Amino acid sequence: MAAATLQLRGVRKYFGSVSALEDLRLDAYAGEVHAIVGDNGAGKSTMIKIISGIHRADEGQILVDGDDLANVKSTAEAQGRGIAVVYQDLALVECLDIAHNMALGNLPRKFGVVLDRRRMEREAAQVLKDLNVRVGNVRTPVGLLSGGQRQVVAIARAVRMDRPIVLLDEPTAALGVQETAHVGEIVDGLRASGKAIIIVSHDLDFVFSHADRVTVLRLGRTVGTRRVSEATREEVVGMITGALPADHEGEVA
Ligand SMILES: Nc1ncnc2c1ncn2[C@@H]1O[C@H](COP(=O)(O)OP(=O)(O)OP(=O)(O)O)[C@@H](O)[C@H]1O
Ligand SMILES: [Mg+2]
Repeated sequence: MAAATLQLRGVRKYFGSVSALEDLRLDAYAGEVHAIVGDNGAGKSTMIKIISGIHRADEGQILVDGDDLANVKSTAEAQGRGIAVVYQDLALVECLDIAHNMALGNLPRKFGVVLDRRRMEREAAQVLKDLNVRVGNVRTPVGLLSGGQRQVVAIARAVRMDRPIVLLDEPTAALGVQETAHVGEIVDGLRASGKAIIIVSHDLDFVFSHADRVTVLRLGRTVGTRRVSEATREEVVGMITGALPADHEGEVA
């Protein structure tokens, strides 16, 4: 089988004296949806932020196609190395419109300097159309959108980046049934286009219908990874709560 696109090995992260991550392992593959589950505070968002360049790991390796990301110091650099991300808190700018938010970090310019508004709006409208997203006019400030609409705009921004690795932290948390199904379709489309998708979710229904693999985190450690087709909900819930032991319990990382 092909090598993993993204690999985490023994990743640790401290915030002062608080140990947020103790031993993370992960192998994510192109053309697969890899779900990350675990209780509140398990370290899921911290993991996403380390991969995307917001935080730096204190120990361990983050490899993209075998290249270590250890020296990546910014989100822009991580993006350059192939990573698009939707954060749990979305990180949209409320006073800017939909089109501008979708282009942040990669604004189209005329003559290399002036913001090319027309192109920005055209591209945003096209991406939203391709994704079948209806949020009205792309000139609407994001601050006027509902929580669910913002979530979809943040996802559309990550899709627009067109990177081989897409990280989604709780993309369906604020969504109703129909919108959740819609995000499921977007995720399926990303998989079909060969991306490696890593999706943090508390929604096991979503995980069991859209993911290929699921990795469970508990107290900052990887408990284990299962193929969704071979796992049961009971097993995954047992791994989340600690009723089942970790795969590498007692092993030195
Ligand atoms: N910037 C920070 N400073 C200090 N501690 C932090 C920081 N970010 C996270 N933590 C701590 O790290 C641990 C993991 O937090 P994290 O946000 O990664 O959890 P999570 O699995 O995403 O939880 P949730 O399901 O609630 O989103 C928690 O104990 C949290 O308090
Ligand atoms: Mg989180």
